[in-house]
Amino acid sequence: MTALREFTFDDLFKFNRMVFDPLTEVYSISFFMDKILEFPMLATVAVAPNEQLVGFILGTRVIKDELVGDGKNLDLISSHGHVSVLSIDHEFRRLALGSLLMERLHASMDRQRDCCWAM
Ligand SMILES: CC(C)(COP(=O)(O)OP(=O)(O)OC[C@H]1O[C@@H](n2cnc3c(N)ncnc32)[C@H](O)[C@@H]1OP(=O)(O)O)[C@@H](O)C(=O)NCCC(=O)NCCS
Repeated sequence: MTALREFTFDDLFKFNRMVFDPLTEVYSISFFMDKILEFPMLATVAVAPNEQLVGFILGTRVIKDELVGDGKNLDLISSHGHVSVLSIDHEFRRLALGSLLMERLHASMDRQRDCCWAM
């Protein structure tokens, strides 16, 4: 069974199959390191029983203290969650792993009271 766990620096040596996938956007190693350091609770990998990395997601929290909207809906703050990268190994697609990683990120964002999303 595939398991989800926190994204660690070691995983940067194991995720080439996904970052070099033609459909996955390519970022620098420093981009990944910044995300893992700054938002560890929003950085998750999916691991197959043979320890192969088969998916990952990195999220970002954008925190702003000004209010937006018409002033009546004070819960509409401009802080929000952002999906920075999501990729599933091409041999493991359409198995609901992407949905699982999104659900976990969403739950994590909800716990931090983020209210809106951007991809
Ligand atoms: C997009 C991606 C993350 C989806 O991961 P996944 O694990 O295959 O997705 P799921 O199995 O959870 O699919 C959820 C739903 O998304 C839709 N979906 C997923 N892949 C699809 C495809 N190739 N074509 C059409 N719909 C698709 C379907 O509605 C699917 O539900 P279903 O299987 O019940 O029909 C994966 O294809 C991927 O890594 N793509 C390359 C990178 C990328 O595009 N990342 C997102 C932008 S950052």
